[in-house]
Amino acid sequence: MVKSILEGKTVVLGVSGGIASYKAVDLASKLTQEGATVKVVMTANATKFVGSITFQAVTHQPVLTNLFEDSSQSAISHVSICKDADIFIVAPATANIIAKAAHGLADDALSTALLTASCTIVMVPAMNSQMWLNKATQHNLNVLKNRGIQIIEPEVGRLACGDEQAKGRFPETEFILNYMKDFLGKVQSLRGKTILITAGGTREPIDSVRFIGNRSSGKMGYAIAKAAKTKGANVILISGPTNLQPPFGVSMVYVETAQQMLQAVINNLSQADAVVMTAAVSDFRPAMKSNKKIKKESMPSSIELELNPDILEAISNKKDKQLVIGFAAETDNVLENATKKLKKKKLDLMVANDVSHPDFGFDSDFILAAFISDYGQQGSLEKYRKTELAEKVVEWIASKLA
Ligand SMILES: Cc1cc2nc3c(=O)[nH]c(=O)nc-3n(C[C@H](O)[C@H](O)[C@H](O)COP(=O)(O)O)c2cc1C
Repeated sequence: MVKSILEGKTVVLGVSGGIASYKAVDLASKLTQEGATVKVVMTANATKFVGSITFQAVTHQPVLTNLFEDSSQSAISHVSICKDADIFIVAPATANIIAKAAHGLADDALSTALLTASCTIVMVPAMNSQMWLNKATQHNLNVLKNRGIQIIEPEVGRLACGDEQAKGRFPETEFILNYMKDFLGKVQSLRGKTILITAGGTREPIDSVRFIGNRSSGKMGYAIAKAAKTKGANVILISGPTNLQPPFGVSMVYVETAQQMLQAVINNLSQADAVVMTAAVSDFRPAMKSNKKIKKESMPSSIELELNPDILEAISNKKDKQLVIGFAAETDNVLENATKKLKKKKLDLMVANDVSHPDFGFDSDFILAAFISDYGQQGSLEKYRKTELAEKVVEWIASKLA
């Protein structure tokens, strides 16, 4: 018999109080049958829909329902339940638990356990369609998504309240199981690997309020960090100033200048298996910097610049076993220039991107990009969503590190 990807995995199943709570019993049972250790944590309201004893019976594990249970008597607590968890799935997720998780509330066993989780969290909302469509619920879901929490959207169909063809229905157990298997399959591909990523633009101060910067938004690097984290990697994200939320579970190092970015890269290089340089590092910095705001009258008519360190070149010289992936933003002869850079900087992969078109590149969700490998082979420039390109880059890294 083919071994299930769920075999040996630890799944925390959070059950909140909705009409679909009883369907979580089937999910708990199937997960257990496929070889997972399923640890159930229920809200008090969920126990009004289905008894904890049912989950205990199908999972052969104690069930956590009470935050204040005497921990010396109980085999699990809100703190220990997530230990060694591969995935935390909340199914069904009520509008209430979604709101609580979005705001970091911790007033019962499930909401508190969610705050202790360092594994991937998946939520399966199920509710009346008006509750689903409510702006508050949608806002809370967006907050969770931006934090890296996966949401399995409810299905359209008949709801318990009697509505027909309305969105809010709990998906079939098979669908959720397949989602989890697919996810855990991908998760494994970078487990135990450390990926170092740089993102955003650097700022080179002229004085205490002005700087030389660039239009990089950081979206590409943040998307790669999220994709690598989703595949189970330890991710260190060295970021210039951006407006982006740090991806869930990623170690952030915030920097401002190219010199600080170089130092942060060097500090973390030895523990990395792969380095992805998406940051737009300023080539120059002002030769002199004032610690105070320069008065308009005293501002020189020209600013003398000096060269910044080339971080990719520094990595090539210092690296040991690491794969090094660069991003080259070009406006002319994109593939030719990117290929030259790949060879000069001895990279394993260069992602050439054409930033001559206003709809692509900096600050856009889309990118016109081509892969150039260490053999100098050129793909053609294609339009990608940045999240899609991030997946491709991470898959390439996983295939090389396998
Ligand atoms: C019969 C009944 C069915 C309910 N079904 C749902 C539901 O499907 N989804 C939902 O978000 N809330 C549903 N609710 C409301 C939740 O039970 C309520 O918001 C509760 O506070 C959720 O608590 P919990 O998130 O702590 O489990 C239902 C309530 C009742 C009485």
